[in-house]
Amino acid sequence: MRMPRALTPFSRRKQFPPPTEPKRASLSADLATNTPNQATERTGGGGRASGGDAGCHTGGDSGRWPGARNGGEAVFRARGLTKVYRMGNVEVHALRGVDLDLFPGEFVVLLGPSGSGKSTLLNILGGLDVPTAGSVRFQDHDLTAEDDRALTRYRRDHVGFVFQFYNLIPSLTARENVALVTEIARDPMTPEEALRLAGLSDRMDHFPSQLSGGEQQRVAIARAIAKRPQVLLCDEPTGALDVKTGIVVLEAVERVNRELGATTVVITHNVTIAQMADRVVTIFDGRISGVKINDKKIPPRELQW
Ligand SMILES: Nc1ncnc2c1ncn2[C@@H]1O[C@H](COP(=O)(O)OP(=O)(O)O)[C@@H](O)[C@H]1O
Ligand SMILES: [Mg+2]
Repeated sequence: MRMPRALTPFSRRKQFPPPTEPKRASLSADLATNTPNQATERTGGGGRASGGDAGCHTGGDSGRWPGARNGGEAVFRARGLTKVYRMGNVEVHALRGVDLDLFPGEFVVLLGPSGSGKSTLLNILGGLDVPTAGSVRFQDHDLTAEDDRALTRYRRDHVGFVFQFYNLIPSLTARENVALVTEIARDPMTPEEALRLAGLSDRMDHFPSQLSGGEQQRVAIARAIAKRPQVLLCDEPTGALDVKTGIVVLEAVERVNRELGATTVVITHNVTIAQMADRVVTIFDGRISGVKINDKKIPPRELQW
């Protein structure tokens, strides 16, 4: 499939950040990152935070966690992240000083009740939003010092997003939805390879309307990972799915994490899902209330709802 010229202005740009850059073309970048037009996704639903183990707080000086697959340096270092939304005279404190390190290849579940700041944190890590105060480093780059264009490049080159709603283009097949990204990414896999990793080899030429919710979400996962992102950020990826379908989607996320080695963050308010993570970060009222390392990860298929 060929991309219209207007959608490919940034194709095959190598540096982050390059010294100069043409005007931001948010459509192509947002196609590359799966981002919906609205940066901040809201979800309803209840849920509750588990207590967590505050004694394991990250953000200290260790810079490591015992299960860090590739050992070594943090991919992300967030310090003192604060986010205040102002709506008229009302201030909403979405984040109240979050310190968090994320390590190469780890699978982190971000757990917390609705309104606790999970999406805000994920959006800041993914360069979709900026904090009111505090800093985030991604590798050697201070994301909080970057301008819009640099953040756009960062999202396009390094971050895969998966949201609760799949944001597929209805008039394109699964393969074509993924090809939108592979045609503008720097070192993409083929759409076929991405769909295979997402467990959807046999549905490549189906349109979204011909796919179930779980299958559509797996197309969205394929689209998110086709660029081989270092980071995969999933905001309630199973929020709109029934349990059985949710498990298949979680299996796809788990396989991608394992085979691609992308640092993966999955937001949920479902305590059960937390059992499949290397590490569970609990957030409550804009603060990290606990960090727990799972000694034993439970495969999605064995999770008991
Ligand atoms: N764009 C926004 N404008 C104003 N308030 C917002 C915005 N996004 C989130 N909030 C508020 O910030 C708080 C945290 O929201 P959010 O990060 O979406 O929580 P969660 O993802 O845990 O449900 C909530 O009180 C929410 O209403
Ligand atoms: Mg949310």
